[in-house]
Amino acid sequence: MNTALIDTARKMPKAELHIHIEGSLEPELIFALAQRNAIVLDYPSIEALRAAYAFTDLQSFLDIYYAGASVLQTEQDFYDMTWAYLQRAHADNVLHTELFFDPQTHTARGVAFGVVVNGIHRALSDAHEKWDMSGGLIMCFLRHLSEEEAFVTLEQALPYRDKMIGIGLDSSERGHPPEKFARVFAQCRELGFHLVAHAGEEGPSAYIETALDLLQVERIDHGVRCIDDPVLMQRLAREKMPLTVCPLSNIKLCVFEKMLQHNLLTLLDAGLTITINSDDPAYFGGYMNDNFAAIVEALPVQRHHLQQLARNSFTAAFIAPDIKQKYLAQVDAFFAR
Ligand code: ADE
Ligand code: ZN
Repeated sequence: MNTALIDTARKMPKAELHIHIEGSLEPELIFALAQRNAIVLDYPSIEALRAAYAFTDLQSFLDIYYAGASVLQTEQDFYDMTWAYLQRAHADNVLHTELFFDPQTHTARGVAFGVVVNGIHRALSDAHEKWDMSGGLIMCFLRHLSEEEAFVTLEQALPYRDKMIGIGLDSSERGHPPEKFARVFAQCRELGFHLVAHAGEEGPSAYIETALDLLQVERIDHGVRCIDDPVLMQRLAREKMPLTVCPLSNIKLCVFEKMLQHNLLTLLDAGLTITINSDDPAYFGGYMNDNFAAIVEALPVQRHHLQQLARNSFTAAFIAPDIKQKYLAQVDAFFAR
């Protein structure tokens, strides 16, 4: 095991760009919130819930992930969940974080949009005040629902638009291609939101292309299936299109059988703007530094790869150019030591 390299990865300044905040709900907090809100869970204990985290594909995970999110009822619940994640991120030397949230999971249960966004946003503001951590919220549309429902959600979001930096697309990928959401994404673009979409996680590389061409996204979440299309890979490299890759997630959801087989280093060496992220850390075995440790252990990662990954995380972030330069200088100063 390369402990020196893992130590470098742990200590280096980094940004996280692909974290579903509902996916940071640890079983302990699920049980605490269930008790606080008098909700009866399907699992008798924390251990029994954790034992159910044996996924065979994306859908088998999403079923349990949406069930876990049902304990979130009040603004304080959303605050507590987000604050717990931010403390972990801060401990992992994450200086900037962009959080996905899934409002439709909550509004469908009668939780008001404002309760969700205000709770998450207040935690992010506190992290900024306490640690100077920067960040933003990206609202995701659930792609297994209709575009009409996405439009309704966008309408609900408008009073809170100052609390969000972008729009994303997540949930069940297969059978729900990006083009299903072309019109609502066009409206989000007109409203000035940054745009991202999950594509090429479980779905085909063609979904990466349509996310770029029809949704005009600025980052692809996952995108690892681009390996099936060399022309697309060249395009992604040429256009410096960031892919927010989630190594532990990809193993847990059987996108790759073993970390040894993960293609992130191949993509990085081919000049793609790869970043490392935790996706749903409470479900997939770890936060940012756990993901870095896992790739360093399994793949021939070198020091220059870590510097590139740290730089990419800030290059791909939705932050003002002067702040971006400040973070990049911090990365380079760290690696110059
Ligand atoms: N929602 C939460 N995690 C997700 C993932 N890995 N893919 C798609 N939707 C998600
Ligand atoms: Zn994701």
